[in-house]
Amino acid sequence: MRYDFDTLIDRKGTNSVKYDLSGKFFGTKDVLPMWVADMDFPVAGFILEAIEERLKHPFLGYTFRSAGFSESVASWLERRHKWSISTHAIGFSPGIVPALNMAVMEFTDPGDRVVVQPPVYFPFFSAISNHGRELVYNQLVRKNERYEMDLDHLEGLFREGVKLFFLCNPHNPVGRAWSKKELEQLAALCLKYQVLVISDEIHSDLLLFGNRHIPFASLGEDIADLTLTCMAPSKTFNLAGLYTSVVIATNPGIKKRYEKILDVVHVGGDNILGQVALEAAYTDGDEWLDQLLAYLEKNYKNFCSFLNDAVPELLISPLESTYLAWLDFSFLQLDDETLRNFIIHKAGLGLNDGPMFGPGGAQHQRLNIACPEKILMEGAGRLVEAIRKA
Ligand SMILES: Cc1ncc(COP(=O)(O)O)c(C=O)c1O
Repeated sequence: MRYDFDTLIDRKGTNSVKYDLSGKFFGTKDVLPMWVADMDFPVAGFILEAIEERLKHPFLGYTFRSAGFSESVASWLERRHKWSISTHAIGFSPGIVPALNMAVMEFTDPGDRVVVQPPVYFPFFSAISNHGRELVYNQLVRKNERYEMDLDHLEGLFREGVKLFFLCNPHNPVGRAWSKKELEQLAALCLKYQVLVISDEIHSDLLLFGNRHIPFASLGEDIADLTLTCMAPSKTFNLAGLYTSVVIATNPGIKKRYEKILDVVHVGGDNILGQVALEAAYTDGDEWLDQLLAYLEKNYKNFCSFLNDAVPELLISPLESTYLAWLDFSFLQLDDETLRNFIIHKAGLGLNDGPMFGPGGAQHQRLNIACPEKILMEGAGRLVEAIRKA
């Protein structure tokens, strides 16, 4: 079956953060919203049908997860990532950010040091600092156009004492799909210093241009013993509003402690429709996802070729994964406040401002390419026109 990613469906008036909160966030409604990381593609028909089927029964009371939840996750991981795990290792979270927060609460004490690698998804910072833990940066380094981890600096931090490490695999916003070699080097350091890893793999299904996702915990039993992995169908199938995510720990001790904090916070219950959607997505979603990935690749190529021709000075990080393009505007030589205003008021675009992503984010903007090609090229056109007039 051929799925349609070209038709634009109006999302305004649906309480969409991306559309209906643009005015509040950017100070004007007059922007093309290309910020929040959800997609302007409708949820696939087979997922909507599964939800509709469940709604034929007129009760939405407390439920528990069926065996099908973990079974569909395990089967998906085996099929898509060649990662075989027991269904006993699979748990739940009502979103990845809550899982990050709970992990910090359970596995660290106030004052403990937790490492993140900016520029990175900004809720990583608050998940650490909001709980009185010390946020420690291991800033990514850019070699040519590609970002890498600074493993020497990281080892120095580990040597000084670190309790927990937040890995973003693949990495939002720089679009890296970490290679096996890079992850093995990282794993060796975590093992040497016995640092627990929270591996946020929410973008793991969105691998582009022949890149492969390597689940960090799949590298070996020893590193799996030190890892809590977070995954979800929310980015892949555009289901973020259903708050249904997956937490995996093959180490029974870590799993038990995670389940404990889930219980303490009392968020381990189920979202009925989220469960149904997850099972449908992970059971029948391969074909839809393959077509989505092909569409995203086409979008990214067209976007880059248009911008590279028109504004070769604008650096676009190579996109190995995610649908988030990371753009370097330093050639404009504007301070961050002026750049932000330029993007909003001169280009008429609602993007994510680089400094939100912490050190290394200055002079950058993040632009979501998961929209119909027409909209993406409209956004690219606005950018070029504004830059030409600048
Ligand atoms: C790396 C990363 N983690 C987590 C999230 C959000 O997860 P959730 O909505 O499940 O809390 C995002 C959303 O963009 C993300 O990019």
